[in-house]
Amino acid sequence: MKNEKNSVEKQSSVKQGAKFSGSLGYILAVAGSAVGLGNIWRFPYLAAKYGGGMFLLVYLILMLTFGYALMMSETALGRMTGKSPVGAFQSFGNKKWLKVGGWINAIIPILIAPYYCVIGGWVVKYLFEYLRGNSTELSTDGYFTTFISDSLSAEICFAIFAIMGFSVIVAGVKHGIENVSKIVMPMLVVLAVITAIYSVTRPGAWEGVKYFLIPNFKNFSIMTVVAAMGQMFYSLSLAMGILYTYGSYLKKDADIEKSTKQVEVFDTGIAVLAGLMIIPAVFAFSGGDMKTLQAGPSLMFITLPKVFESMGMPRIIGSVFFFMVLFAALTSAISLFETSVATFVDELGLSRTKSSFLMLGIVLLLGTASVLGFGAWDFVTVLGMSILDFFDFLTNSLMMPISALFTCVLILRVVGRDKIAEEVKLSSRFKRQKLYDIVIKYFAPAFLIIIFISSIASVFGWIKI
Ligand code: PHE
Repeated sequence: MKNEKNSVEKQSSVKQGAKFSGSLGYILAVAGSAVGLGNIWRFPYLAAKYGGGMFLLVYLILMLTFGYALMMSETALGRMTGKSPVGAFQSFGNKKWLKVGGWINAIIPILIAPYYCVIGGWVVKYLFEYLRGNSTELSTDGYFTTFISDSLSAEICFAIFAIMGFSVIVAGVKHGIENVSKIVMPMLVVLAVITAIYSVTRPGAWEGVKYFLIPNFKNFSIMTVVAAMGQMFYSLSLAMGILYTYGSYLKKDADIEKSTKQVEVFDTGIAVLAGLMIIPAVFAFSGGDMKTLQAGPSLMFITLPKVFESMGMPRIIGSVFFFMVLFAALTSAISLFETSVATFVDELGLSRTKSSFLMLGIVLLLGTASVLGFGAWDFVTVLGMSILDFFDFLTNSLMMPISALFTCVLILRVVGRDKIAEEVKLSSRFKRQKLYDIVIKYFAPAFLIIIFISSIASVFGWIKI
C-alpha cells in the first residue's frame, strides 16, 4: 500500500542523491552494518560465558520482541524526519532531554569504533599469518596472548584496519563495497556451514552442541539477560543512531517491515552458525579444559585455529575465513564511521573530509588506549576490566539501554505510536503492530531500567558477572 500523503514535506531535508536506490541497496547496507564481529567474535564468547542454551533462548526472545520493536522505531523515525539521531530528536522540539537523547545515540558509535578497529586489527593479523603459512603457530596455546601483549604489532594491525575503513569513506566507494558484500557474505555462510558441520561432528563435541542449544535453568542469572540485551543491540546495530541515519536515506516506498525481518533472520543465522563453529569445538579441542569457555574476547582466536588445523589445508581455509571475517568487519566499521562523520557534518558544521579526519584521530587515540591495555598498560584496569572490555561494557551495557530508553520515551511521550505505525504503513502492512505496541508501551521502558540498574550493580559487585 502506498500513501504519498505528507511524504514530500517530510523528505524535503534530505538530498535526493543520498537516497538508497531500492530496498535491496538498503538491506545490503543494513545487513552489512549488522553482520560483523558482533556475530562471529562477540556472540560465541558471550554465549559460552553466560549460560549456553539459556543465553541463546534469552537472546532469541529479546531479538524478536525488543530488537524488532526498536529496529522498526529507529528506521521509521529516521525516515519520518529525514535526519540522523541528533537532528531527528530535535525535530520534535528543543527541550533539553531531546538534545540529550539525540546525542547519546550519536556518541555511542564514536566510542565503539575505536575498539572495534582494535579487534579488526586482530583479524588482519590472523589473515596475514594464514597467508604466510603460519597456521601451526596460530593454533598453539598462548599465541594469541603473546600477540596482543606485543603492543607494537597489535597497534600496526589496528592502524591498518582503521585506515582501510577510512579510505572507503573518504574515497566514497561505500556502494561498491556493498555490492561486493553480495558475493562475499553468501560465501562466508557456506564456509561457516562447512566448518560448523566439521566442528559438531568431532569426538566430544556433542556435549558442546547440547550446552549451546539446550537451555539449562541452572545457568540463568540476571547477567545472562544483561549480556544478551547488550549483544542484541550491538549485533543489530541498534540504540546507536545507525538506523536513524540509514532510515533517513530510505525512500518512502521501501518496505520497512520486510527489510527488518530479513536483517533479523540473516544476522541471527550468522551468529548461531558462529556459535556452532566455536562452542562445540571448545569441548572437542581444549583437552577437556572447560575454563576455555570463559576465555572471553579471545575465544574465537584461540579455538578456530585449532579447528582449521585439524580440518586439513589450514592455510587455505584460515586465509579464506579470515578474509571474509575481515570483510564483514569492515562493512560494520564503515557504518560506525559513516554515522559518526554524519554527526560531525550535521552538528559541528565541519566538511566531510574534516569530519572524517577528526573521526580517524579519535579512533586512533582511543583505540591505542585499548591496544596498550593488553600490553604496556596492562596494569590499568577500569572497574576491574581491561580498557577494551571497559569500552565494550560502557557502550553496550550502560549507554545503549539509556539510548534505547530515550527512543521509547520519544515515541511514547512525543511522537505517538500511531505516527510510527502511519510511517510504516506508507510502504507496507504492519503485521506485528500489536506486538510492537505491547513491547514499546509496557515492556521496553521498565525492562531497560532493570537492565541499566543490573549493569551498575554488576560493576559494584552486588551481582556476579
Ligand atoms: N553490528 C555490528 C556487528 O555485529 C557491530 C556494529 C555495532 C556496527 C554498532 C555498527 C554499529 O559486528
